[in-house]
Amino acid sequence: MSEPITPAWEWDADEVRSIGHRIADLVADHLTALPGKPVWQPYEATVPPADGGPVGLDEVLDEIAERVLAYPFGNGHPRYAAWVNSPPHVLGAYAETLAATLNPSVAGGDHAAVHVEREVIRVFRELAGFPDTGMGLLVSGGSMATLTALAVARHRAAERHGLDVREHGLAGRTFVLYLGTEGHGSARKAAELLGIGSANIRLIPADADHRMRPDLLRQQVEADKGAGVVPVAVMASAGTVNTGAIDPLTEIAGICAEHELWLHVDGSYGGPAVLLLDDHAPVRAALSAVDSIALDPHKWLYAPVDAGLVLLRDAQLARDAFSLVPPYLRTDDEPWFSEFGFDQTRPFRALKVWAQLRHLGLDGYRRLIARDIAVAGRLAAVVEADPELELLAHGLSVVCFRSAGLADEQNREVLTEVQHAGRAFLAGTTVNGVFALRACVVNPRMGSADAEAIVAEVRRAAGLIRRRAPRRPPPPPDPR
Ligand SMILES: Cc1ncc(COP(=O)(O)O)c(C=O)c1O
Repeated sequence: MSEPITPAWEWDADEVRSIGHRIADLVADHLTALPGKPVWQPYEATVPPADGGPVGLDEVLDEIAERVLAYPFGNGHPRYAAWVNSPPHVLGAYAETLAATLNPSVAGGDHAAVHVEREVIRVFRELAGFPDTGMGLLVSGGSMATLTALAVARHRAAERHGLDVREHGLAGRTFVLYLGTEGHGSARKAAELLGIGSANIRLIPADADHRMRPDLLRQQVEADKGAGVVPVAVMASAGTVNTGAIDPLTEIAGICAEHELWLHVDGSYGGPAVLLLDDHAPVRAALSAVDSIALDPHKWLYAPVDAGLVLLRDAQLARDAFSLVPPYLRTDDEPWFSEFGFDQTRPFRALKVWAQLRHLGLDGYRRLIARDIAVAGRLAAVVEADPELELLAHGLSVVCFRSAGLADEQNREVLTEVQHAGRAFLAGTTVNGVFALRACVVNPRMGSADAEAIVAEVRRAAGLIRRRAPRRPPPPPDPR
């Protein structure tokens, strides 16, 4: 510890600048050196004790360089294609610093951050075709977006049944939700938190393409009619996490309209593709009729975590579900964001999202997303052409595959081997009951050559596991 400890809150401009320059060097070195480093490696350092200071700023930055930046999650690397985590855009990374420099609470009021968030919301509201009586909120992620939307849906459903859920909770009534079997687990968590209970989720089976079956949804909704339950919402997906499937939203929206059901669409992953790409214009048209959408800038819009977005068709309903300002005290002024959701103090998430949108433009985003889809397409094509591999599913930028002839357990070992070798990073999942390696490309740093290298790495790992596998006796001859 060589330099004196700077007294708190008394930095002069030169000090602030020099800390910033050092950090800019760390950012630059990190982002440019990543491709030559392991995609991921186990954490082998120790975190210096947070209560062991005071320690000089330079020393803290050294520790961050050696013990934090050296052990990334993996998602800045060109050969990371696992969970839905993108590399950050450099402008977004720095915008986070600027947002933190202002450090406002975006609960509400009349300061820049509120206006920037409103502008971001406007863009997505219009892309989704929602009316200007709709609204949105930047939240922590897709899970919070879905929880927020379902809280509003629950409020409306209760009201329709003469219940005041804010005052009395579920009042002993059974509320039910409809979710596709491929729907994300956050929907289940939301149902549990909202008191609905996961046992009251009606799981609607999928078709061969992993899309919710509208005929079975209709059957279930009709079976529930007259059963004394309070139907809350149908939760559909515009891009499932497992296989990138998009549920048949037009048919589902028709069923919801007929039965006056709330329709929530989880577009946390696939939303940007649906909102921006011409190929998805029919799905986009269906979206304009839904009640709420979850959509994550921190996934396929490459914004640094965290940035989720919930869009709600009816702002008034959201306010009724959350606001603690009684209707008779509400003014005509712009209401506070905190009246529409759970959080009171809210971070300035909008700056990075706005800055990236402004810089890349919607067309820039279209090109980046289309490129991810094309790279995933290349990966799928290489898998399909390889007799040792088996393509299990391919939707949007998700590709699920496995080593043909290896059992589930061995394919799991292939995944572990790939992850630990550090040359590529994939995730695992289950498709039609079998274990699959899953690639999800939300990564503008990844090119076709990286996609090919990832498949080659799987092939290498599979060879290793095959050689390691105990030789099994051949199956007995078929007696027929
Ligand atoms: C389809 C889908 N929905 C919801 C979520 C949850 O989003 P978050 O992790 O931002 O809460 C994810 C996360 O991967 C997802 O892919």
